[in-house]
Amino acid sequence: MIFKKFFKKAKFEKRASELDSNIEEIPSHIAIIMDGNGRWAKRRAMPRIAGHQEGMKTVRRIARVADELGVKVLTLYAFSTENWKRPKTEVEYLMSLPEKFLDEFLPEIMERNICVQMIGEKEGLPEHTKRAINKAMEKTKNNTGLILNFALNYGSRAEIVKAMKSMMKEVQEGKLTIEEITEETVNQYLMTSHLPEPDLLIRTSGEVRLSNFMLWQLAYTEFWFTETLWPDFDEEDFMEAIQAYQKRNRRYGGLTD
Ligand code: FPP
Repeated sequence: MIFKKFFKKAKFEKRASELDSNIEEIPSHIAIIMDGNGRWAKRRAMPRIAGHQEGMKTVRRIARVADELGVKVLTLYAFSTENWKRPKTEVEYLMSLPEKFLDEFLPEIMERNICVQMIGEKEGLPEHTKRAINKAMEKTKNNTGLILNFALNYGSRAEIVKAMKSMMKEVQEGKLTIEEITEETVNQYLMTSHLPEPDLLIRTSGEVRLSNFMLWQLAYTEFWFTETLWPDFDEEDFMEAIQAYQKRNRRYGGLTD
């Protein structure tokens, strides 16, 4: 056990030293599709919720390292609009996690000057989940460090439909003309209007799809996939993703030398 810890620390330090820690080279906004909790539990003959519980620990680990590296926004896909289809007990457990997480982590969040935010349909959440999120958002609203942004009851298509409806209403009411609508206008109607677009998207567990996550916002994002299941994902994996990102050549459709 001690040896394992020692090697882990040594690997972590090696990875950290290889990383370009120059703040301009650290992605400002990292979005993560946290996947593989169920499989992690199944491999251990444990109930799926044990995987989610372990996944919550990873959230804490990754929020800490993101904060330490100077990442500005960390968006975590914690519950999609499609996840309601899961068994009731699993949904109930997932809905209890923000409360559990914030109960334990809020003092550290305050110490670290982290600001908790959320995208998704808050109104569709159970009262106790909403209360926990509202409390954390209110308490941390003036914090100026990392934005820890939970995508909860979030679906990108629903977000786009909602944005379209609000935009059309403004047109109907004469507050906006069709000619005035640009990409920037659409941006302003999305739940992420106040955030920069993600620079890096990470998906764990070997699945290679977007699952209705930030479809508009990810247009020029660099993607990084790993076989590692979310509960096993650690600081070293996170830095490996950033290192891979630092080697990419972002062209935004143009040419570079
Ligand atoms: C996908 O894995 C994961 C989820 C649907 C839930 C993600 C939630 C967490 C990681 C905890 C969130 C913590 C907070 C603080 C809100 P899966 O269950 O689909 O895994 P599988 O594909 O292996 O079945």
